[in-house]
Amino acid sequence: MNSDKKTAGEIREFPESQNLNRRDFLATSAAFAFAGTFNPGLRSASGHSTASGARHQSAAATSSKVQRVIIDTDPGVDDSIAILLALRSPELKVEAITPVCGNVPLELTLPNALRLVEIAGRTDVPVAPGASHPLTRRLVTAKSAHGNNGMAGVEFPAPATKPSRESANEIISRIVRENPGEITIVALGPLTNIATVLRADPEISAMIRGIAIMGGSLSGGNISPSAEFNFYVDPEAARIVFDSHIPLTMVGLDVTRKVLLHEDHVKLLEAAQNPVSQAAGRMMRATIERMRDSHNPPAMAMHDPLTVASLIDPTILTLRDFYVEIETSGELTAGESVGYQRVPMHKSAPLETSEPEPPESVQTFTPNARVGVEVDSEKFFNLLIPRLTEAKS
Ligand code: BDR
Ligand code: CA
Repeated sequence: MNSDKKTAGEIREFPESQNLNRRDFLATSAAFAFAGTFNPGLRSASGHSTASGARHQSAAATSSKVQRVIIDTDPGVDDSIAILLALRSPELKVEAITPVCGNVPLELTLPNALRLVEIAGRTDVPVAPGASHPLTRRLVTAKSAHGNNGMAGVEFPAPATKPSRESANEIISRIVRENPGEITIVALGPLTNIATVLRADPEISAMIRGIAIMGGSLSGGNISPSAEFNFYVDPEAARIVFDSHIPLTMVGLDVTRKVLLHEDHVKLLEAAQNPVSQAAGRMMRATIERMRDSHNPPAMAMHDPLTVASLIDPTILTLRDFYVEIETSGELTAGESVGYQRVPMHKSAPLETSEPEPPESVQTFTPNARVGVEVDSEKFFNLLIPRLTEAKS
């Protein structure tokens, strides 16, 4: 599925105001590292950390009450399934959906998100438009995987619902500020919107309960040998988020490649007579049929739905503490996520200069993310399929 993502994509001119150079970015990113409030443990409702040693717990993973989430997303076939799953799950209260460019341009991800809230009968959920291009790079899309319209080429009616008047940045900032320590962001696309919010409103990093991120990989990429698609599209944004000191959960390819939706699942979706299951079945049928020539058996990795499911049932994933850094300067490796599990954290050897050798640095290991390392695929599908097929709405 992922091997056929194209590197060619939409090419856009950036508005002058957003066209920061790399130096601006690294300076901004570094500033977050010093300005943020690092919370090594679970963030409490007051927005402050509660000490729990070096363990960097997923805020969501330990909560039994309804979790309030904002879904940042680039629908996208698997994003669509993830959104439908979230909207049908009583464990989650979706406060807003904030589309971003990624799998397809924003002109498509925005109406697609509106279509999905209509299909789910949840037009009460505001959909606020986000970034139309990555922070500094030209947009690379994944139309080959998600169809030219981002919904596997399946034509759903144009949405009657209008987008929110607030932008993604405004709505995220407002909702988080009104509910400090309560909101978990579920990031299913390039991290451009989240990074933009953190740059515009740095104080909110201490008020965000956590971010569950679909992205990255500690075992090779899917669009390049090193990078996973979401981080590849906007490595600078990913770097800002990983430097933010917000409790992060990284649901990367290490686990998402292991949850494969195949023909039998599609038949179950098609057999159920509700609008959500029918829509999911149509998109997945189109996807599977398109893959038949190149994949045996055809199957699509449920990257984004797994990220949502891990909030609903934390026992689906096994998480481990890592310190994850995002490569932004590599000519061949931009977007790679490099995970350290202990000190010493050797980076590239310093270049030879005439300067005296710096003293050896003393390192301590401070994880910045909990990373999915194992997944119970059966448990995941036992959650996903009934949630989409059960009769309601
Ligand atoms: C990620 O890339 C996108 O194509 C999918 O929607 C998912 O978020 C997987 O690499
Ligand atoms: Ca996505």
